[in-house]
Amino acid sequence: MSAFRPTILIFDSGVGGLTVLEPIRAARPDAHFVYLGDTAFFPYGEREEDELIARVVSVIDKAVAQYKPDLVVIACHTASTLVLPALRARLTIPIVGTVPAIKPAAESSQSRLISVLATKGTVKRDYTTALIRDFAGDCEVTLVSAARLAGLAEDALHGLPVADADLRAEIEPAFIEKGGRRTDRVVLACTHYPLLLAGLERVAPWPVTWIDPAPAIARRVVQLLGDSPIGAQGADDGFVMLTGADDWSPSLLSAFAERGLSPIAI
Ligand code: DGL
Repeated sequence: MSAFRPTILIFDSGVGGLTVLEPIRAARPDAHFVYLGDTAFFPYGEREEDELIARVVSVIDKAVAQYKPDLVVIACHTASTLVLPALRARLTIPIVGTVPAIKPAAESSQSRLISVLATKGTVKRDYTTALIRDFAGDCEVTLVSAARLAGLAEDALHGLPVADADLRAEIEPAFIEKGGRRTDRVVLACTHYPLLLAGLERVAPWPVTWIDPAPAIARRVVQLLGDSPIGAQGADDGFVMLTGADDWSPSLLSAFAERGLSPIAI
């Protein structure tokens, strides 16, 4: 009897979900991956809440009907902080969301000054406010709406140059000095940002621990689907679809190919 080979749908507004795909693929190399990037509607961070809920529900409904995944990962904070209840009400398969990793930041911060770097949408969500209230009540939390950072990450993946000055301008408000203390944890609350990590480290005013939620997401996926069967081989028959038909570049194609994903038309 052959082992159960799950199909996992990874969804993001663009290419940021690659940072979440990576540890999931490492944990379940045998899975069949379908990656869907809603690049035609990018950036989600600037969208109104009503239009975003309607959009994500409709895109996910169609993808689930067509690809019949065993599990869906909403690899986008801007979407997850808003649409998880609507999706869970419609679908019976598990939906794993990606929400700001405020809890681990607060648990580990020494200085009690933590910052959350996110899109405009994620910064203003009630969900984010509730996470701060519930898990970081004894920290001073600085919310930074990074208007251009997700776009810069898309540029980087397309092989376009990203200037250090632009990165610095986006992250500087996250670095706070107060009464001899300094910010020591920065939550990367947008899946695009870890794509720029080397640059962020280079331009940071001082070293901090950057908190990326992706490893925790991968652990949750394994909890729900189980471990890979012993001796499972890595598969590279996954595929990727972007809703913006003209959004391909050679650099992007190779970024997906390195992760075993080939492009298909929607
Ligand atoms: N990748 C998305 C997130 O995690 C945001 C980028 C966008 O504005 O679309 O929040």
